Amino acid sequence: MKNRVTVLHGINLGALDRRPAEIYGGLSLVRLEQQIGRFGRELGLEVRFFQSDFEGEYVQELHKAGDFSDGLILNPGAWTHYAWALRDALEVSGLPAVEVHLSDVDSREAFRRVSVLEGVCIARVAGKGPEGYRDALAHLKEAFTA
Ligand code: DQA
Repeated sequence: MKNRVTVLHGINLGALDRRPAEIYGGLSLVRLEQQIGRFGRELGLEVRFFQSDFEGEYVQELHKAGDFSDGLILNPGAWTHYAWALRDALEVSGLPAVEVHLSDVDSREAFRRVSVLEGVCIARVAGKGPEGYRDALAHLKEAFTA
């Protein structure tokens, strides 16, 4: 039974607690990952985490993700809107993936409405804060049992 999920946080997510609290809620990445870990346990999923501010590192992690993951959750931060190599790297992984954003990217600046991951993920969750990761895990669980 597939149950291994890797959550990949991208650029600037490591400084989450220093970003605008009215948009991101003021919580640290460590706290966010604790919550996601709990959501995972509730759903019977094993969750591991990765964060990088370096696009090449993020891409390399996607290349090898299939060795230890059955599905992926991606919040690439601002890379979402312009880093097309991430889309290709996700295809290389061959894994089902869900795109997550803490904020409601579609109701912010126009540049945030573009996503390089459009059409290559099984679902997209935005604007639900940490709860969005619970939804993303549930989508993956469904994909694992389909
Ligand atoms: C984000 C939204 C992006 O537009 C932004 O650049 C981020 C975080 C989010 O989680 O809401 O860094 O991905």
